[in-house]
Order: sequence, then structure tokens, then C-alpha cells
Amino acid sequence: MDILVVGGGGREHAVIKALKKSPKAGRIYCLPGNGGIAADAECYPIKATDIDGIVEFAKAHKVDFAVVTPDDPLVLGAVDALEGIGIPCFGPDKKAAIIEGSKVFSKQLMVKYGIPTAKSKTFADADAALEYLQDTSYPTVIKADGLALGKGAVIVNNFDEAKAAIKDMMLDKIFGESGSRVLVEEFLTGPEVSVLSFTDGKSVIPMASSMDHKRALDGDKGLNTGGMGTIAPNPYYTPDVAKRCMDEIFLPTIAAMNAEGRTFKGCLYFGLMLTADGPKVIEYNCRFGDPETQVVLPLLDSDLLEIMLATRNGTLSEDMVKFSSDCACCVVVASSGYPKKYNTGYEITLPAPAENEEIYIAGAKICDGNLVTSGGRVLGAVARAKELGTAIDKAYALAKQVKFEGAYMRGDIGARALAALGDK
Ligand code: AMP
Ligand code: GLY
Repeated sequence: MDILVVGGGGREHAVIKALKKSPKAGRIYCLPGNGGIAADAECYPIKATDIDGIVEFAKAHKVDFAVVTPDDPLVLGAVDALEGIGIPCFGPDKKAAIIEGSKVFSKQLMVKYGIPTAKSKTFADADAALEYLQDTSYPTVIKADGLALGKGAVIVNNFDEAKAAIKDMMLDKIFGESGSRVLVEEFLTGPEVSVLSFTDGKSVIPMASSMDHKRALDGDKGLNTGGMGTIAPNPYYTPDVAKRCMDEIFLPTIAAMNAEGRTFKGCLYFGLMLTADGPKVIEYNCRFGDPETQVVLPLLDSDLLEIMLATRNGTLSEDMVKFSSDCACCVVVASSGYPKKYNTGYEITLPAPAENEEIYIAGAKICDGNLVTSGGRVLGAVARAKELGTAIDKAYALAKQVKFEGAYMRGDIGARALAALGDK
């Protein structure tokens, strides 16, 4: 079975390495892929947002199955377009991808169906938002409605900061039309958990839980990034919490999407905060998380391709999805300066990963036969082990053998999770 994967980051590299293990997998194409993915799939320079280009490619290469992983092609309707020419896909259609594409939509969904989330107000007018922000309590959270490269949520500590955020989003439109509407949301506190799930619109099967580390610097300081590292499973996600999430959030969300005529099929990502009042939804993503996927899929002991086919065909069942009880850690090695300005084009020297280790390439390209940096987050060094501490040590040992000019990594990925395990 020839497979097309749309996307080109560390997440897609992890998906492709998992798909390759399936006996059913034939050729694997990746659009656009990257210099590291090129070792595992045939990459072509067609952008993930070029829906017409993707459809033409899929037709010309007689692809049997497509996996669309990034948010923007999903929200743009890549799955509708591919299914429209008879190519079955893993991923939600445009109608369902709105659960990530519009935070106003997802908030209304949660309110309508009683799914626990932060209280919020929606504004389409900057003056009205500012009037409300004058009297609200701080900190509070301001979120752009649409996609914003993961940067659309800002925590503000006073009215001046709120004014600046409203100006950026609604007046200067730094996220384009995504900022036409904003949500002003209650600030919640508690540990965060990412739960990726497979759903065919009937069953919802959670994958191993995980914890992202979004800030650039140790101790969760500095700017928000796409994610500087992950661990799985998340020690805060106990069996009791998991049961509550299933009953109060996961099943009600699937039912709500069905009731709205927006059946979701694919990977639904629940971004949760475990507050003193119970688990609440911080965000939904209509796709695999990055870099969560890099720790979750190495723990999957089942055939990813079979699961994806069943998800598409509505035949998903729990016995198809088995996760190991091992732990995994991903340490992202980034270009220094990221998430602000950074240089690229530096040659990368990679260590050879041992058993239970992987290197997933995110931002690199081949130049004159050499792998060179081309992005902020360059790669993820991943290790799997029985104990979380061992997985963390091994992932760091691997990451430290990666050499390129200006390589930067956080030094404390997994530290909070280890401390939480120690508290139990
Ligand atoms: P989002 O883009 O919605 O995932 O938000 C990015 C990050 O902002 C989340 O991972 C949280 O750390 C933080 N955040 C978002 N919403 C809230 C909230 N209501 N209260 C506290 N922190 C939040
Ligand atoms: N790691 C967060 C995300 O994928 O949105």
C-alpha cells in the first residue's frame, strides 16, 4: 500500500518511522518532508498548504492512502479534496477540523454540551474587548480565534499588557484574519496534560498521555515555542483522572461533534489542565501534537497503519491499540535564538541511535550532500526505557552527541514529571 504523508517536521518523521514498520506499507511519499525524512520517505517540494499540488501528486503517484498531519491543510480541506478523488485519508475533514481552526467554535461547543473549560467571552470589536478588559481580574488569557502557529494565546498580567495584545491581534492583525475575533479567557492553574486519541467518530481511544515543555528556557521561563521537549506518560494523568477525562471530556466531545453534523475522524488532541475543580479543556487540536508524537508513537506496540485505516473506515476497536508501559523522553535540539531570530545552514553531525532510541529531524535540509540546519527546532532526540529517569538520561546523552553550530536545548525536560513521581 503506497502512502502519502503531508507535512515536514519532527512529528511527520515519527509518523513515517512508525508507518514503515507495518508489513502493509509500500512506498512512502512525504510532501514536502525535510532533509532527515528523506532517509525514510520520498520527499517532494510541494507545500503542505498547496492543496491542488497535493491532489495532483496523489493522483499521479496512485497513492492508496494519505495521512494529513499539520493543522493548516486539515483546516483548508486537504482531506475533503483527497477523499473527493477517491483517496482514503487519515485526518478530519474541513467541517470537523474547525475544532482547532476556530477557538470561538470550540468554546461554543464546550459550553453548549457542558464540557469543562475555562470561562470566556468572545469579542469581534477591539473597543468592546478593551472595555471588558478594564474591569476584569488579572492574569487573564487572550486568544486569537484562528490558527496562529501556536502563538495565538497570550497570558496578560495587567491592562497595559492586555491593550498591547488586543492591538497586535485585532488592529495590527499580526495573525491575519485569525485575530478578527478574540476570546478573553479565565486564567486556570494546574498541571497540563496532552492526550492524543484515535477516533473514528464512534470509539475514542486515548494514546499514552504526555507532557510538553513549551517555554524556551529552563524552569518554564522565556518565550513560548512550538515545544522544547516532551515526556510520556504524564505522571499527573492517573487512572482516576483518565476515567474522569473519558467520561466528562472525551466521550462528550465525540458525541457533540456528531450532534453538530461534524463527525471527527483522525487524531483528536485534548490539551487539558488539571485544575482544583477537575480536568478542563485548554485547547483541542485536530491532529497529532508536535513534539508529543515523538514520545507517544515510540510507545505504540501496535501497527499504526492498521489503526489509521480502521480510524478512516469506522472499524476502530480497543484491541487494535496497545501501548507499552515504558516511558519516553524527547529532547528538542534547536538553533540558538529560537523562537526569535536564528541562523541556519550549519552542518549537522548525528550520532547513531542505539536500540530504543530515535532521532526525528524537524528543521534540516540536504545541501551539497550534507544535512544542514534549516529551522528553529532542528531535531528531537528520543529514548524509550522502563523508567522515566532512564529515558530522560538516555535522551539527553543522545541529544548531547548532536553537533551543529549554536545547538541549544533545555536542560530540564522531564524534571517536573520526575519530581511529581517522587511526590507520589
Ligand atoms: P493554547 O494555544 O490554547 O494551547 O495555549 C497555549 C498555552 O497557554 C497553554 O499550553 C497553556 O500553558 C496556556 N494557557 C492557555 N489557556 C490558558 C488558560 N485559560 N489558563 C491558563 N493558561 C492557559
Ligand atoms: N505541542 C503542542 C501542539 O502540537 O500544538
